[in-house]
Formats: sequence, structure tokens, C-alpha cells
Amino acid sequence: MSKRSFKEKVCWIVGASSGIGESLAKELNRQGAICIISARHEENLRTVKSQCFNPDNVKILKCDVEETDALPAIAEAAWRLHGNIDYVFLNAGIAVRDLIVNTQTPMIVKSMNTNFLGAAVIARTLLPHMIAQGTGHFVVTSSISGKYGFPKLSAYAASKHALHGFFESLRAEHDKDGIRVIMVIPGLVKTGISLHGLKGDGSSYGKMQESLKTGLSPEVCALRILKGVLKNKNEVIVGGVERFTILLNRLFPSLMAFIIRNHPMQKLKALRLKKATQS
Ligand SMILES: NC(=O)c1ccc[n+]([C@@H]2O[C@H](COP(=O)([O-])OP(=O)(O)OC[C@H]3O[C@@H](n4cnc5c(N)ncnc54)[C@H](OP(=O)(O)O)[C@@H]3O)[C@@H](O)[C@H]2O)c1
Repeated sequence: MSKRSFKEKVCWIVGASSGIGESLAKELNRQGAICIISARHEENLRTVKSQCFNPDNVKILKCDVEETDALPAIAEAAWRLHGNIDYVFLNAGIAVRDLIVNTQTPMIVKSMNTNFLGAAVIARTLLPHMIAQGTGHFVVTSSISGKYGFPKLSAYAASKHALHGFFESLRAEHDKDGIRVIMVIPGLVKTGISLHGLKGDGSSYGKMQESLKTGLSPEVCALRILKGVLKNKNEVIVGGVERFTILLNRLFPSLMAFIIRNHPMQKLKALRLKKATQS
């Protein structure tokens, strides 16, 4: 059996202007893929293209996944660019970070539209084409928050859980048609996700979350994702030790719920800080 590779495969990366998507685009391009890169900020996409190993193999298609009415036409345009698409990386995402009591309804809607609905509409549009060609891959960026809820991430976690429900159903319906769904579950990755994120009132979160500073680099994350995709895994989990909480949650859900509720790490840090200031 010949070894699977991305060489000359058409890959559409949605959410490719920064972070994980940017690294995915650059690595796919380096591995010989024909890339279409999308996001809202065209200038950033141009920079990504110019930094690629082979920029001639990269096309830019501006798109805002929140504008779901416009998405079918954009997905059709993406398909027409090369007459097929082998891999769609549904990676666009935004983090809304706040307590539920502070999270206004428009922010829940924004999170659902950006992180879930946009991906679902794109998949809905491309599916008939992929069924006709007898092959196609949806590589969907979820999160550990797609596996269990977490304080201050309610809207984000809800949107990531929705991705699992939708795309696991798609996998069940269309595996027989040669359609593959790969759910990507990153742990902590050192990107601007919190910097670009929003608070519950819609204002900018605007700072780098402490825990992300120690996260995996987006470049390593992209390499691991692509390795998992080529292995046709149902789920690709990437990150540091935090990824074991998925297993912990699966095996001991009550214990995990207790840990999440009680923030043991934060309590330990607060205790250390208190001791340090007292001495
Ligand atoms: N970093 C982590 O620790 C982590 C962990 C788990 C999951 N993830 C997931 O990984 C994915 C990538 O995030 P990242 O960490 O790389 O953060 P990032 O640097 O902020 O990247 C987010 C990407 O999504 C795009 N995007 C946001 N809103 C969009 C919209 N309405 N339409 C089209 N594109 C949009 C952004 O481009 P524009 O702003 O130019 O539109 C950007 O390219 C997200 O789905 C995120 O939820 C990240």
C-alpha cells in the first residue's frame, strides 16, 4: 500500500490567518499540498501566503464564517478553484471567556456561529460534491472544552460540543461514501486565541492567558495534527499533560467534575502566594 501524503492534495484551511491554522497552512504547503486559505483578515492571509515555502501553490479566499448566509457561495467558490477539495480544515474559532452570569446572549450566538454553525454550513455545502467524487476529509478543530464543560468557557464549550454532535453524525451517515471526519482536540497551544478573544459583554479579552504561555507551539501542534490526519484517526488529541484529563473525565466523570468545580491548581497557587507574602 502506498504511503498516504498531502502531496498535490487540495486542502482548504478555514481560519488560516494566525495560530494553528497558519501553521497548518505552512506545513501543508511544505508537504506539497495545494492550499486555499481563508479567514476574515485578508492582509494576514497575504502574509501567511508570502511566508509559505511555495506561495504559488496557495490561493486566498476571504471568508467570515459568522456570515452563514454567504457561506454556501464561498464554499462553492472554494470547490471551483481547483474543481475538487480533498481536505477541509474547519479551524476558525473564537474564545468567549466569562462567567455565564456575565455572558450576554449575542456572545453565545457569536460563539455558536463562529465555532460551530459556519463549519456545519461549509460541510453541508461540500458534502454532495465529496460524495460524488467518492472521497473527502473534514478535519474539525474542536478543543478539550468539546469534551467537558469548564468555568468561564460556557459559550465556547457549548460550540465545541456541538461540533462533535454534528460531525460524528456526519461520519456515521457518510463513512460508506468515503467521507472521513477527523476531530482535532488541542490542549493548550501558544497562540493568540485569548488575545483575540472576547469577554461576555463583547469587549476584547485582549491578553494572553497564563496557561497558554506554556502550551505547545502552533508549529508542533500542526505537525502532530497532520500526522494524525494521515493516519485517518477519528480523533487527534494534541497537547501536554492536560490531554490526559480527557481520559480521566471518561473513566471517572464524577471525580473530574469535582476537580473542575474546586480548582485545585488555582487554590494551590493562591496558597503559595499567601505563604510567600506572609514570609
Ligand atoms: N490555542 C489553543 O490552546 C486552542 C486549544 C483548543 C482549541 N483551539 C482551537 O483552535 C482553532 C484555532 O485557534 P488558535 O488557537 O490558532 O487561535 P487564533 O490564532 O486566534 O486563530 C483563530 C483563527 O480563526 C479565524 N477566525 C476567527 N473568527 C473567524 C470568522 N468569523 N471567520 C473566519 N475565520 C475566523 C481567525 O482569523 P481572522 O481573525 O482573520 O478571521 C484565525 O485565523 C480554534 O478553533 C480554537 O478554538 C485552540
